[in-house]
Amino acid sequence: MKNKPIKFLDLGYQPLANSFIDKKNINKKEKKYRLIVSFNKQNFLVSINNSFSSKEMFDDKYPYRSSMSKAVSNSFKKLSTSIKKKLKPNKILEIGSNDGTFLNNFSKKKIIGIEPCKNVEKLTKKKGYTTYPLYWNDKTCKFLKKKHGQFDLIFSANTLSHIKNLGDVFKNILNILSDDGTLIIEDPSLLECIRTNTYDQFYNEHIYVFSSLGLNEVLKKNNLEIYKIDQLNIHGGSNRYYIKKIKNKKKIQNSFFKQIKDEIKFGLKKAKTYHDFSQRVKKSQKSLKKIFTNLKKKNKKIIGYGATAKSTTVLNYCGITNNEIDYFVDTTPDKQNKLTPGTKIKILKYTGGINKDVDYVYLGAWNFKEEILKKESKYVQRGGRFIIHVPFPRIL
Ligand code: TYD
Repeated sequence: MKNKPIKFLDLGYQPLANSFIDKKNINKKEKKYRLIVSFNKQNFLVSINNSFSSKEMFDDKYPYRSSMSKAVSNSFKKLSTSIKKKLKPNKILEIGSNDGTFLNNFSKKKIIGIEPCKNVEKLTKKKGYTTYPLYWNDKTCKFLKKKHGQFDLIFSANTLSHIKNLGDVFKNILNILSDDGTLIIEDPSLLECIRTNTYDQFYNEHIYVFSSLGLNEVLKKNNLEIYKIDQLNIHGGSNRYYIKKIKNKKKIQNSFFKQIKDEIKFGLKKAKTYHDFSQRVKKSQKSLKKIFTNLKKKNKKIIGYGATAKSTTVLNYCGITNNEIDYFVDTTPDKQNKLTPGTKIKILKYTGGINKDVDYVYLGAWNFKEEILKKESKYVQRGGRFIIHVPFPRIL
């Protein structure tokens, strides 16, 4: 069929990326799926083939916390200052408000959030903010519109790309956004992902990794369009898209045209670009495995730092398990004392610093490399080394 999306990447059988295992369930069979990624030549969207219901992925045990990274909270803070100064919204809605890291920057009277993962939603509610434990869908949109009316700013970071039916997502946003309102979305950039070989941006929650080309195609179908783009050094290279209703005559800025031009120049409209990427990913897999095998031959002690959803993809794809990595350290309470999905590596609470007997640290949270290297300068000074796979596997 001419219009069928082109499969270009096969990352093998994978568990759900954030389904950290309770020790008591160590012998329980995990749910696995084949992670295949496709490119749609018609609308330029890149998406994973399998998808799971939101309920299965975003439940009351969801471990991710935005507040765990200084880089994320600082970036939200900076954005909030700019929003207050330039856009001056009266009513703000955040879709996927997690633990309130963005909401915290606004007055409780002005902002509300929806967050389906009750365990994190509760944290924001406790601080006195209005939040609802809801998924973004027709029903929620109707409910919010009736209760709160339209919003002049809607913010959503790393959330909308987790919802399969983008048509519904944006139809509802169009409905609840005021005519001169702004929708701001933040998500990993496909251009950066392909350019830096970060295949671990693909996992069950990331149904899409957006390019500006693909996102704008879907937006336009729903009478919305991008008018400005900021590039962010977050989650391995993200874009912040400023979006308006097409009928709003606000000027489309150069940052949008430049990003589109860069994406076309890099080849994001061509299938070959994705096939070439797939070849680089296979090379990356071999080379990362080799690093681990060689170090283990020399009896080196390797631990992991940051048990990310991304590292679930890498470890399972490369077959790196508790034979190679002794344990992970992580600051997120809901991950501690559990095991990594699929590869069953223990996750310990980060208690400051890296133990003296550790020779190598695999950076699962490579996207916070600068932050972590700074924090672990003592480890580096005593000759400790990091293993990273981005943009290609190597020892730092
Ligand atoms: P992140 O890269 O944000 O997410 P994803 O799961 O979407 O791939 O996750 C970063 C993880 O790394 C998170 O579990 C917290 C942990 N972490 C540390 O343990 N120490 C640190 O200094 C930082 C920055 C993160």
